[in-house]
Amino acid sequence: MSSAKSHWDTVYESKENEELGWFEEHPKTTLDLIAKIAIPKNAKVLNVGAGTTTLVDALLEKGYTNIIASDISDVAMQKLKQRIAETYNYELECIVDDLTNSSKLNTLSNVDLWIDRAVLHFFLDPEEQKAYFDLIKKIISPKGYVLIAVFSLDGADKCSGLPLFKYNSEILANHLGSDFTLVESFDHVYTNPFGGKRPYIFTLFQKH
Ligand SMILES: C[S@@+](CC[C@H](N)C(=O)[O-])C[C@H]1O[C@@H](n2cnc3c(N)ncnc32)[C@H](O)[C@@H]1O
Repeated sequence: MSSAKSHWDTVYESKENEELGWFEEHPKTTLDLIAKIAIPKNAKVLNVGAGTTTLVDALLEKGYTNIIASDISDVAMQKLKQRIAETYNYELECIVDDLTNSSKLNTLSNVDLWIDRAVLHFFLDPEEQKAYFDLIKKIISPKGYVLIAVFSLDGADKCSGLPLFKYNSEILANHLGSDFTLVESFDHVYTNPFGGKRPYIFTLFQKH
């Protein structure tokens, strides 16, 4: 088992959703950004590094019907799948995979919306970052959208005890390359359940 997988499995085994430092009761900032783009409710929406996020609940409540969640932690995926089944009677497709060394996500295609909140910044090694962006480029549909919300350059140095690589929209745009256009970008300070202020950058790109 990779050390990343065992780290995240332990986190999700030992904590309830509300105790997680990145927990959002209602993911308003992400939803507001999604509301600005014209994708149909049956668009293929992939939430990577989803953990046990309430975003899936919120997307279902908005009427999205084709949601896939993915994470390196199968503990998180089991918890999420069970909650969604019990609450919405919806069988959520959950894919356990490593974004930096994909063996399953890389078989997907025509993803209309990629959503990453608080995941990319854990990848410190340039090879891991390259694998992450190569995966996006491989599976996103023409005209598809990429929403990435990560710690901004003035963000905290650690999350979940792990060091972070921080971003601005230019760094993200450089990684995505000329096939993607930046649609929107803004700073957002997220207040975690313990009152800590966590500056993020929210970005939305579209593939040509
Ligand atoms: C800070 S949490 C954010 C969870 C969720 N996106 C949210 O906003 O609530 C980071 C998530 O990234 C996942 N993760 C970390 N490394 C990963 C990797 N290499 N591949 C896929 N997921 C990973 C973790 O298991 C964890 O669920």
